[in-house]
Amino acid sequence: MADLIIETVDLVKRFGKFTAVDGLSLEVPAGSIYGFLGPNGAGKTTTMRMLTTLTRPTSGSARVNGFSVTDDQIAVRRSIGYMPDEFGVYEDLRVWEYLDFFAACYDIAEGERKKLINDLLALVDLAHKREDMVDKLSRGMKQRLSLARTLAHDPAVLILDEPASGLDPRARIEIRELMVELARMGKTIFFSTHILADVENICSHIGIVEAGKLVMQGSMSELKARLMPHREIFVTVKDDTAAESARAIALTFGGVIAAEVLEPKGGRSRVRVDYQGDDDGVAALNQTLTTSGVAILGFQEEVQNLESVFMRVTHGIVG
Ligand SMILES: Nc1ncnc2c1ncn2[C@@H]1O[C@H](COP(=O)(O)OP(=O)(O)O)[C@@H](O)[C@H]1O
Ligand SMILES: [Mg+2]
Repeated sequence: MADLIIETVDLVKRFGKFTAVDGLSLEVPAGSIYGFLGPNGAGKTTTMRMLTTLTRPTSGSARVNGFSVTDDQIAVRRSIGYMPDEFGVYEDLRVWEYLDFFAACYDIAEGERKKLINDLLALVDLAHKREDMVDKLSRGMKQRLSLARTLAHDPAVLILDEPASGLDPRARIEIRELMVELARMGKTIFFSTHILADVENICSHIGIVEAGKLVMQGSMSELKARLMPHREIFVTVKDDTAAESARAIALTFGGVIAAEVLEPKGGRSRVRVDYQGDDDGVAALNQTLTTSGVAILGFQEEVQNLESVFMRVTHGIVG
């Protein structure tokens, strides 16, 4: 596919006899926010270090922005902004000096740097900290500053290693909003996390990695559709007789795979309907039950969140 901005094929990294990355084939579309999700030790940092040319693959290939990480290292480095998992120690540097230092590293002319730094600080909401010492900043502010640094040379791809790790809830939200903003500006964002909640709301694509292997990857909607073979609808009615009628009617409805009367809850009888269909079908099922004379007290689809999907995937009980 032409529009993959990061593509790896059977990427492997061994440390001695230990295989940290084990045949990874990643497909990151241009313009995506790709969440690279996996537990600690899964090989995320090692993968990112190969993509950023900091460590050489043992075998396999990787291209970033069309350039090979082994044959076109300079072009790869120009294409990416990399935020490592550790901020590093920058004592005795003011916030603006920190950005000035990295802008200079990218050969940005001195005359252009002042405006660039002001723009970057405004973007990450640190303009008011311009003269502060870097090591006095909160962790959330350091992460935002680090993100600003990755943008200095206006790269096409941002590779962010656990950008939200160790942040308080508010700072996590700020970092997420910043990633969305950067994606809106046209950047592709490839970021790692071991926390499921980090990918749920902002990612267009995710890849799940475990023990160096890709468990699955795709667009968020594909993944959800693939892993949710049916929808679960809970119908609440007044008693078991009504539940029995609702069950019988539901079973005659096209797309209903199963229907079961459940234990009453809060004095109300319930039926669980397993349904394979779209939103219009769910609405039609609701209508059918009503017009058939079943008095419905509640009609609710259980929202299957990514967490339940993830649990199913990682317990190997898919499909
Ligand atoms: N330089 C190294 N030498 C030996 N083992 C390493 C090295 N770097 C990482 N590892 C091992 O590779 C595995 C994957 O590490 P890493 O890529 O940091 O995982 P993650 O970022 O997903 O937590 C871990 O078991 C780690 O101990
Ligand atoms: Mg890591």
